[in-house]
Amino acid sequence: MYSEKVLDHFTHPRNVGEIADADGVGTVGNPRCGDIMRFYIKVEDGRISDITFKTFGCGAAVATSSMATELIRGKTLDEALQLTNKTVIEALEGLPPQKIHCSVLAEEALRAALVDYYTKHNLPLPKELETTASCDVCCRNEPRCDK
Ligand code: FES
Repeated sequence: MYSEKVLDHFTHPRNVGEIADADGVGTVGNPRCGDIMRFYIKVEDGRISDITFKTFGCGAAVATSSMATELIRGKTLDEALQLTNKTVIEALEGLPPQKIHCSVLAEEALRAALVDYYTKHNLPLPKELETTASCDVCCRNEPRCDK
């Protein structure tokens, strides 16, 4: 069963939409279920000043996207790099085991947006993003390979 928080974020998702002049955009998909998630970020003075998402997927994917944006808004880039799917699951008060992969998609979408930000601005990629960067040109399979 889903927690009240998951149901709330699924039925009333926060931060849905696009940012026209985003500093970073990250899109990821899960080849098994076909769901797609896209995150947009604005960065000002080293902080995520705005973050939105568009998700074409299941209810858990929408809820994890929504919660991830709530957790990240206003955070520094370093803090954003530390977000994991476990943090999102805890904030949502749990997910059914068969829906854990949906939260992985949210983590990956944020990381892909961060990779896009660092790349577009010719900034060195933090080591936390090196796996994501290589997965961008690889298979994106989860669980992540060790490349
Ligand atoms: Fe694919 Fe949820 S079933 S992300």
